Amino acid sequence: MTVAKRTFDAVIVGAGGAGLRAALQLSEAGLKTAVLTKVFPTRSHTVAAQGGVAASLGNSTEDNWHWHMYDTVKGSDWLGDQDAIEFMCRKANEVVVELEHYGMPFDRTDNGKIYQRPFGGHSQNYGQSPVSRSCAAADRTGHAMLHALYQRNVRANTQFFVEWIALDLIRDQDGDVVGVTALELETGEVSIFHSKATIFATGGAGRIFYSSTNAFINTGDGVGMAARAGIPLEDMEFWQFHPTGVAGAGVLITEGVRGEGGILRNASGERFMERYAPNLKDLASRDVVSRSMVTEINEGRGCGPDKDHVLLDITHLSPETIMKRLPGIREISIQFAGVDPIKAPIPVVPTCHYQMGGIPTNYKGQVVVPKDGEPNSPVVGFYAAGECACASVHGANRLGTNSLLDLLVFGKSAGESVVEDIQSGNLSLKPLPADAADASLARISRLENQTGGESVAEVGQAMRRTMQKHAGVFRFDKLLKEGVTAILDVAERSKRTEIKDKSKVWNTARMEALELDNLIEVAKATMISAEARKESRGAHVRDDAPDTAEFPNGRNDNEWLKHTLWYREGNRLEYKPVTMKPLSHDVEPIALAKRTY
Ligand code: FUM
Repeated sequence: MTVAKRTFDAVIVGAGGAGLRAALQLSEAGLKTAVLTKVFPTRSHTVAAQGGVAASLGNSTEDNWHWHMYDTVKGSDWLGDQDAIEFMCRKANEVVVELEHYGMPFDRTDNGKIYQRPFGGHSQNYGQSPVSRSCAAADRTGHAMLHALYQRNVRANTQFFVEWIALDLIRDQDGDVVGVTALELETGEVSIFHSKATIFATGGAGRIFYSSTNAFINTGDGVGMAARAGIPLEDMEFWQFHPTGVAGAGVLITEGVRGEGGILRNASGERFMERYAPNLKDLASRDVVSRSMVTEINEGRGCGPDKDHVLLDITHLSPETIMKRLPGIREISIQFAGVDPIKAPIPVVPTCHYQMGGIPTNYKGQVVVPKDGEPNSPVVGFYAAGECACASVHGANRLGTNSLLDLLVFGKSAGESVVEDIQSGNLSLKPLPADAADASLARISRLENQTGGESVAEVGQAMRRTMQKHAGVFRFDKLLKEGVTAILDVAERSKRTEIKDKSKVWNTARMEALELDNLIEVAKATMISAEARKESRGAHVRDDAPDTAEFPNGRNDNEWLKHTLWYREGNRLEYKPVTMKPLSHDVEPIALAKRTY
């Protein structure tokens, strides 16, 4: 197979919020920038973000970035790096106002300011009362954001390669990154994108689970490529289950519904969150709300004939508020639950939503790995931002609306780093290794020649069921141990997947097989990292690590206040310290404490 070569200053993989924000930084600086994307940019998964982007603008209630930083560190269950968290919270107002200037149609307050609503875990005055911090465009914030960023990129001459899937990262003999290989879906041809800088912004991999709010495109492509190229994956045991997926369908119902006053109720109509989080109630942090819902269901207080969900009630809100602030939710509820939320509550269950771990990066968006005794040594030419990256600002549990903020802040920051590295001469075009495309061609050749294997759909289904059963909202030692064996078995099966009747299939079938390679890396990293972490922290809650006086919330800071690094080679685990020191010398670290809401 011939392999064409294209050369750019920078290649970005992924055209969601992080990719577009990074691309803008590069193109506006005059760098020749390519963006590879599996779908048209405005169909990237950021489009599904509903409730808003966090920034302490203080338009509706008093606020400041110190409170935001405190909430984020506490939300992360102290696993977030405090330098990166300070950076993100301090930058929030700047990136949101920038977006407003790009034409993002935020909702407005009566006096013309950006409208802000409360969201889970965000508080005033270090946890005292809910704060309105989420800047929203109705319940379609991500959709509005993508359009604003895409248009700005078109103006800046960013070159888009639409319906291309990146295959593998190219590293040279020094381990430096010099580009990626990619397959064009229309032709099936493989090309090399040779570049000074490569930025991954490929989003999450929520599709490793059976029940997910994620789009089908969320297959962890960047994370899988990084793992195959020898980059360790950080904190992959931490997955967020969003409290309110439509029962039976998984589609997201924004936390903004609770921000606007929605209440979770069990079968007897009780507002049960009052028992679990007396202060913030339905607006406690997501991991807390999801676990409370599952406990209600497990203890027989669930709703419906099978008692398998709870209800999200907004019938007490005026129809005008629902139509103005939550029009998309009403539509989703009618379409997927057969319920008009103006008249009846919506059936909901916790559903996999977000990957807290990923490719290790620092707050500059540089990918970092342990090297020569230094835990965070940058990989030359390689950057990552958004959900595929682990900066790490979310630690063991992300707060709602910090995802859109993360992708804006770190997309911009990765872009700034590349511009600086290229303009200062630190980064130049290094030669491609002679075998640059060999690994990708071998993967494609295996698929073309495989016979007698299982279908991609069968193996994918086995992976999703294994993950859902063994690594869900609550985790059990026995199930995790069995889960490791089970997922390694599925991984073996994935090496022999076969595309049936090859002459008749579209390249999308080939893409699904290649995506499964990436999902499997994520699934292995998740299960193995989760089995090994013998404590409860944030979204990772184990039956054998309960809440005790010695270990508040089941957290064991003496042994486990550290980041996991999973290496694909030999499924090896290493650990590195959490950064407890903020970026600025005059900012006090947020001291370890028990998490209560
Ligand atoms: O509930 C939501 O609107 C989701 C927001 C988020 O995940 O940040």
